[in-house]
This record gives sequence, C-alpha cells and structure tokens, in this order.
Amino acid sequence: MTTSRPTTHRIAPSILSADFARLGAEVSDVIAAGADWIHFDVMDNHYVPNLTFGPMVCEALKPHAKTADGRPVPIDVHLMIQPVDALAAAFAKAGADYISFHPDASPHVHRSIQAIRAAGCKPGLVFNPAASLEVLDWTLDEIDLVLIMSVNPGFGGQSFIDSALRKIELVRKRIDASGRDIRLEVDGGIKADNIARVAAAGADTFVAGSAIFNAPDYRAVIDTMRANLAR
Ligand code: DX5
Ligand code: ZN
Repeated sequence: MTTSRPTTHRIAPSILSADFARLGAEVSDVIAAGADWIHFDVMDNHYVPNLTFGPMVCEALKPHAKTADGRPVPIDVHLMIQPVDALAAAFAKAGADYISFHPDASPHVHRSIQAIRAAGCKPGLVFNPAASLEVLDWTLDEIDLVLIMSVNPGFGGQSFIDSALRKIELVRKRIDASGRDIRLEVDGGIKADNIARVAAAGADTFVAGSAIFNAPDYRAVIDTMRANLAR
C-alpha cells in the first residue's frame, strides 16, 4: 500500500558539537532557535573510536528538552555502542523518545527493537555508509525510524559521503511501499547548502552538529536550512 503524506521536515541538532561545559543551556538555546528534535550521540570507544555521554547525561538534559511554552522536544538517541540492549533500556528510563542502534552491533536485532518498543520508546535502525539494507526486509514493520549515516560514525565535522543519497532513495521507496509512518533521517555532513539535495533524495529528518553549533547564530542556520528545504 502506498500513502502520500505531506512531508514534514525535522531538524535535529546533534549536541556532539555543543559546548559540553554548558550542555543544558545549549539544548535550551538550540530549541529556542527552532530545533525540532535533540540528537544525542552515544559513543563507547568500542563500536566507534570515540567516547561521549551516557544515560545520566540524557536524564539531566531531559528537563531542558522543551520549548519555552512547555511543549516537549523529542530526544533522539543514536547509539554507537556494542552491546546494545542494557544501555538502550537505561536510555528509555532516562527520557529518550527515539532510540536507534546499528544492526551490526546487536546479535538479535529484532529482540533489541522489541525491547526498545516495550520500554516505551520509538525504535530505529542506523546504517553505516557501507552497510547493506537487507535487514529492513525483516524489520521495517517494527521500527519508527531509519537513520542513514552519510559519514562514518564517531566524529562530527566530516564531509558528506555522496553514496548516501542513493541509499536514501532506496529506503524512501521501501518506506513508501510499507505505508507506515517511519521517519527517514540522515546524519553526517549536513549543511544549509546540501540539505535540499538530501531532502530531494527522500530524507525528512536532518541531523546537523557542526553546521549549527559551530555557528555564532543557531537560528540563522536553522532558518536557512528551512528556507532551502521549502524551495
Ligand atoms: C557522527 C554522529 C553525528 C555527528 C554529525 O558519528 O552520529 O550525529 O554529530 O556531525 P556533523 O553534522 O558535524 O557532521
Ligand atoms: Zn548521530
């Protein structure tokens, strides 16, 4: 079944590039600047060669994940960790809304998805630049988000890998054929000047770390991204 829904774009700033000495204020500031989601990159120095933050930091930031008038802003947890299940459960308790993991980091992908759902969160699967999409044949009906990596995971500030566009097109076809409401997110190297190209390939949700947090005016970047998406 194919349904057509109006595309609602979501911009998800990654706090990986925020000022870690003042994370709560950074989350509040980027929401005031128009962020739709907060992207939370969890790295374990095992699945990826970097180390960031865990569920305690997520819990501390949860009260900041709301608009000035009190509307909750989803926390989009991207797990770059192995194993997956124990920390996914901890993030569910810590206030995560979406929890995504790399299928190659879990021996039982379907079970991990079910556990995230049972914990009250929306499960997602993440695909590295060289990862095949085949696991979606068996899991697309169970998830709420597909996250396509357009850089190799581990660090902010890398350049967009163009082959991600072809992969986004393939996932868009699968999602449309499923008829389910599944977000198609892209992560890595997203800037105001390439976001429209990525949307044209079929993405609807855009992670941006360095493009937003390394700029002096977060609102100016987010507004330019939205203007380029609307063209
Ligand atoms: C990389 C992370 C990204 C990162 C993106 O492993 O998953 O979310 O923050 O950073 P930029 O937008 O700077 O490429
Ligand atoms: Zn990420």
